[in-house]
Amino acid sequence: MTKRRLPDDLSVETLSIRAGQLPTDEQSHSEALFLTSSFVYQNAAQAAARFGGEEPGNIYSRFSNPTVRAFETRLAALEGGERCVAFASGMAAITATFLALLQPGDHIVSSRSLFGTTNVLYDKYLRKFGINTTLVDLADIDAWRAAITPATRILFLETPSNPLAELGDIAALAALAKAQGALLVVDNCFCTPALQKPIELGADIVIHSATKYLDGQGRCLGGAVVGREQEMNEIYGFLRTTGASMSPFNAWVFLKGLETLSLRMKAHSEQALALATWLEAQPGIERVHYCGLPSHPQHALAGRQQLAYGAVMAFTVRDSDGHADRQAAWRFIDATQLVSITANLGDTKTTITHPASTTHGRVPPEEKQSAGIHENLIRLAVGLEGLEDLRADLQRGIVALGY
Ligand SMILES: Cc1ncc(COP(=O)(O)O)c(C=O)c1O
Repeated sequence: MTKRRLPDDLSVETLSIRAGQLPTDEQSHSEALFLTSSFVYQNAAQAAARFGGEEPGNIYSRFSNPTVRAFETRLAALEGGERCVAFASGMAAITATFLALLQPGDHIVSSRSLFGTTNVLYDKYLRKFGINTTLVDLADIDAWRAAITPATRILFLETPSNPLAELGDIAALAALAKAQGALLVVDNCFCTPALQKPIELGADIVIHSATKYLDGQGRCLGGAVVGREQEMNEIYGFLRTTGASMSPFNAWVFLKGLETLSLRMKAHSEQALALATWLEAQPGIERVHYCGLPSHPQHALAGRQQLAYGAVMAFTVRDSDGHADRQAAWRFIDATQLVSITANLGDTKTTITHPASTTHGRVPPEEKQSAGIHENLIRLAVGLEGLEDLRADLQRGIVALGY
């Protein structure tokens, strides 16, 4: 069955539903799930032509599956990149990007404020292959400039960052990367293309943990890298060889998740702003880190480079006896009855996390300290439950602090 060509210049809302069409001879309206590990050929000559790259077509689902390709096409269209390569998880996508594009002796400059496992990747694995990383304060553009050396090949950041919701100025960092001949890689997991388009702002590569808001309902692990054909071809070759591939089933779930992406991200952001504003005024809450609040030092930048503020915030607590420590944070978390105590985020269900002992538990204490992952810090990823129910649940935490 032939595809109808989509009109040009479609909105994010439309692309998230329509891009990456997957017509079949059965004329199914919803995208088909090709749950198959391999594909068959008319004859031996066709098999040889497919493997030799002389004839396009499916070969084997480690590196070519129509449902995965539909997801890749949709996400590339949403991010405004030439091509997307899907992976089994966000970490697989990040690892592949570094290993496919870097050589021993190359250097990365990265924000210090980062998902903890990316830190472990730098320290424990990339270092082993002669790739060194300098960590800098995400918001300090002079620190980024000063850290760049002639060997720097990649500037890497998350914005907003996990868990402190700090921001990097994508356009300014893109200019720095360009001047050095390095690539700017942005983990766009917290905003998604519904709220932020790093490539339009000058980034070269966008990374996703599809596990989060692209799915949106906490069902599947997945990852993706989006960028120019030249770099994506290297990354695709790495995937084909090393095999951390996205399952077709997961790709199908993500295609369904993407259809409601814009609606969800706007609703998540509205709820988070309301809760952050309320939390900031409560006793026992020392500081709320959320880029939607005027008190956030980069509130103006968030307004410039994001369409809304996203759903992830972090806050520090102090109990009525003056203790601002792990016990106070755990008491707050354990007093909640509705929100889920879990490390994931990007779900319709609100999640609450103690980063210092979970997501960032493997980060060395001094790095944790300098990144602001204090023992009394709590991360909240606001879901889509009723706002009053969420407020009442967090109030239980405040009561547990002795207020
Ligand atoms: C910002 C960010 N990037 C990457 C990842 C890793 O993604 P995954 O868990 O899909 O490997 C996470 C996971 O929490 C994350 O929060």
